[in-house]
Amino acid sequence: MHRVFKRSTAGVVALLGALMMVTLLTGCKFQPGWGYNKGYAPEQPIPFDHSLHVGNHNIQCQYCHNQVERSKHSNIPALSTCMNCHLQVATDKPNIQKLREAYDNGGSVEWVRVHMLPDFVHFNHSAHIAKGVNCQTCHGEVEKMQKVEQVSDLSMGWCVSCHREPENKAPLNCSTCHY
Ligand code: HEC
Ligand code: HEC
Ligand code: HEC
Ligand code: HEC
Ligand code: HEC
Repeated sequence: MHRVFKRSTAGVVALLGALMMVTLLTGCKFQPGWGYNKGYAPEQPIPFDHSLHVGNHNIQCQYCHNQVERSKHSNIPALSTCMNCHLQVATDKPNIQKLREAYDNGGSVEWVRVHMLPDFVHFNHSAHIAKGVNCQTCHGEVEKMQKVEQVSDLSMGWCVSCHREPENKAPLNCSTCHY
């Protein structure tokens, strides 16, 4: 009796484990919109070219993403930042005229998000920037991209393997990244 009970318990545990794996795999891996979207490079309403602005014209990342050192989030710049230049620069170009029109009407550009972690993950840009982790370590060579692409898979394994590097002295407890 005892042995049978033990075996069926083990069976139930194994079955639950298998079910969990299936839920985790199907529920998470294929959920659109967040995580695992390596290679994701959506079209933007105005084709904004990082390689032109950063690569050719040497504009620093923080000129536009100016909250990244202070805040959890790295802001997408407001139209007023674009207009510091584009009130004068390339005003004959249709895409710049679109920017100007939105600006004059108090509107904004609806940029499509590229990177997106699930809600239950806590990430903080400023903590990483303060420790000297480069944008490129996580985002790749954005200065060469005509269209931003997600280069890292943003999986838990990706985060944890960097945190585990002894020289990083980064926290590994679950509550660091999960509320
Ligand atoms: C002239 C302004 C400007 C500069 C300079 C700039 N960016 Fe951006 N960045 C934008 C805009 C606008 C977007 C939103 C449109 C897009 O995704 O292409 C963006 C989007 C991004 C995204 C994707 C955000 C998302 O939705 O997940 C990343 C990552 C990024 N930038 C990193 C960088 C890095 C790294 C640098 C420096 C190498 C840089 N940017 C320099 C304006 C700028
Ligand atoms: C340690 C890895 C890492 C570094 C370093 C890093 N990022 Fe990010 N970045 C991420 C992750 C992860 C996300 C998605 C965050 C989310 O969904 O909450 C993200 C999102 C973004 C976004 C979209 C807005 C947001 O905050 O969700 C922009 C823009 C961006 N990063 C720009 C930058 C720039 C510019 C730098 C350098 C100054 C930088 N990142 C450095 C990992 C990093
Ligand atoms: C520091 C100055 C500066 C800022 C800020 C800036 N740009 Fe530019 N942008 C330029 C320059 C220089 C060019 C190249 C113009 C040329 O080749 O005639 C350019 C070109 C462009 C073009 C290509 C125009 C075309 O069709 O040839 C687009 C689109 C554009 N910028 C969008 C933006 C957006 C959106 C922002 C804000 C997120 C922005 N720019 C911020 C300097 C800037
Ligand atoms: C390339 C290395 C690297 C990657 C990738 C990375 N981190 Fe970190 N992380 C660090 C370092 C270094 C620290 C700083 C430790 C410290 O402040 O002492 C840190 C700190 C943190 C902190 C603590 C912030 C605070 O307020 O103290 C959080 C939260 C965090 N990381 C979340 C994440 C998440 C979530 C991901 C993946 C989406 C990630 N990290 C990916 C290197 C990395
Ligand atoms: C450095 C950040 C980090 C740490 C530390 C961390 N996680 Fe995560 N975790 C993530 C990220 C990012 C995701 C979302 C991407 C994914 O599912 O791989 C995630 C996803 C998960 C999921 C959902 C898996 C899925 O596919 O739905 C579970 C469960 C989880 N973590 C548990 C834990 C536990 C338990 C610990 C502590 C042993 C832990 N995490 C520590 C970053 C972290």
